[in-house]
Amino acid sequence: MAEAPPRAMAHSAASCEPRNPGAAPARLDHVAVTIAGARDLPASDPAPLANPGGRRAFAAGTGDTEGMPQLFSPRADRRLRLAMGLGAAALVVLALAAWALARSDRAWGVGVAAPQPIPFSHAIHAGSLGLDCRYCHATVERAASAGMPTAETCLGCHRQVWSVSAQFAPLESALALGSAVPWSSVHRLPEHVRFHHGAHVAAGVQCSTCHGPVEAMPRTVKAETLSMGWCLDCHRAPEAAGIALPASPTAARHEHYGVEVSPLTRCSTCHR
Ligand code: HEC
Ligand code: HEC
Ligand code: HEC
Ligand code: HEC
Ligand code: HEC
Repeated sequence: MAEAPPRAMAHSAASCEPRNPGAAPARLDHVAVTIAGARDLPASDPAPLANPGGRRAFAAGTGDTEGMPQLFSPRADRRLRLAMGLGAAALVVLALAAWALARSDRAWGVGVAAPQPIPFSHAIHAGSLGLDCRYCHATVERAASAGMPTAETCLGCHRQVWSVSAQFAPLESALALGSAVPWSSVHRLPEHVRFHHGAHVAAGVQCSTCHGPVEAMPRTVKAETLSMGWCLDCHRAPEAAGIALPASPTAARHEHYGVEVSPLTRCSTCHR
């Protein structure tokens, strides 16, 4: 027992020195302590050193010399792992960017004007001239559709004002053909969605809540996305948007029994 520590120290110091001379003293302490408890430890400890390059670690470990050689050096391996990590991160960033783009206002056509047969301006007619919205969108208070002005509505004034201008030709031809003026829409909802202007106007929702400051627009653009999430933001809590719904006895009863309170969030309210 008295002989053992120096032998182990000699062995350990010899095998450690070339690699890490600075750390040798600490290492010796460790060996001296462990050797007292378990003799086999020093043998397993320097084992990795038997294969200094690490290149054929697989074969060396198993004793199988025909085993698969390690194709890549540890450095190349680290690089590959790093590249894979960065690649995965880049994919996640790309997916997030694509998602953000798809949900952006631009993708919903917010702020984008449509080409019109006549360069009509709300800023002139509803702004400067102060015409009421209902003068041209006559059914907005009672029907699903707000209604669009006919050629006669415009020509009532424009037979007198600016009538010689060639830009009114589409109005004259619509009148002659008895057809509607082919205005393009910037607000069209998909076929599967139902909307009703009258219900909203009656509940006190302002035009500007959904359409923005139309009376200041030289060219008509969409001010809100009109996405389902946007509709539901209000339908879930109309009070938050300053709309007081008349208290209904059915709603109170529904609340009491813990069933769905508001029909405003039911799918069938907005979907056919
Ligand atoms: C003198 C007639 C006139 C008046 C008054 C008028 N509009 Fe219009 N409005 C039009 C015409 C014409 C169009 C179609 C051309 C365009 O989009 O600029 C239109 C289009 C719109 C659209 C877009 C419709 C779509 O399908 O995208 C909205 C929203 C709208 N008006 C809201 C209003 C509001 C709100 C007011 C009142 C502040 C108003 N309008 C007053 C004539 C009028
Ligand atoms: C609760 C939101 C909301 C309010 C309030 C609202 N609109 Fe609309 N408006 C819409 C939506 C959504 C559409 C698209 C409807 C569709 O495609 O079926 C639309 C479409 C229109 C159109 C195009 C014609 C049509 O009916 O499809 C006009 C014009 C219009 N609105 C004018 C007005 C005016 C004027 C007011 C105020 C008196 C008003 N809107 C109030 C949401 C609203
Ligand atoms: C109440 C009368 C009145 C009605 C109704 C009316 N307008 Fe006008 N409009 C005017 C006046 C007035 C001007 C000239 C404004 C100015 O020069 O400042 C004008 C100007 C215009 C201009 C020239 C704008 C520019 O770029 O300078 C166009 C285009 C026009 N209106 C189209 C229409 C169309 C389309 C309708 C129907 C949807 C219509 N107007 C309905 C009174 C009217
Ligand atoms: C700012 C609030 C607000 C926004 C935004 C809004 N709504 Fe509403 N909506 C209401 C209120 C309030 C009622 C209930 C009216 C009532 O019951 O008297 C209503 C009722 C309705 C109704 C039932 C009409 C009926 O037949 O009685 C439909 C359909 C509807 N909304 C569709 C939509 C759609 C689609 C959108 C989005 C494009 C939308 N709403 C955006 C407030 C809003
Ligand atoms: C307040 C009105 C409203 C209610 C309630 C509502 N939706 Fe929608 N929904 C819309 C509008 C507006 C659109 C079209 C715009 C969009 O795609 O966001 C839409 C679009 C959709 C789409 C198509 C999405 C796409 O990407 O094309 C599906 C699916 C859908 N709704 C399912 C539902 C289901 C299921 C419910 C009930 C849990 C529901 N909606 C309740 C207004 C509503």
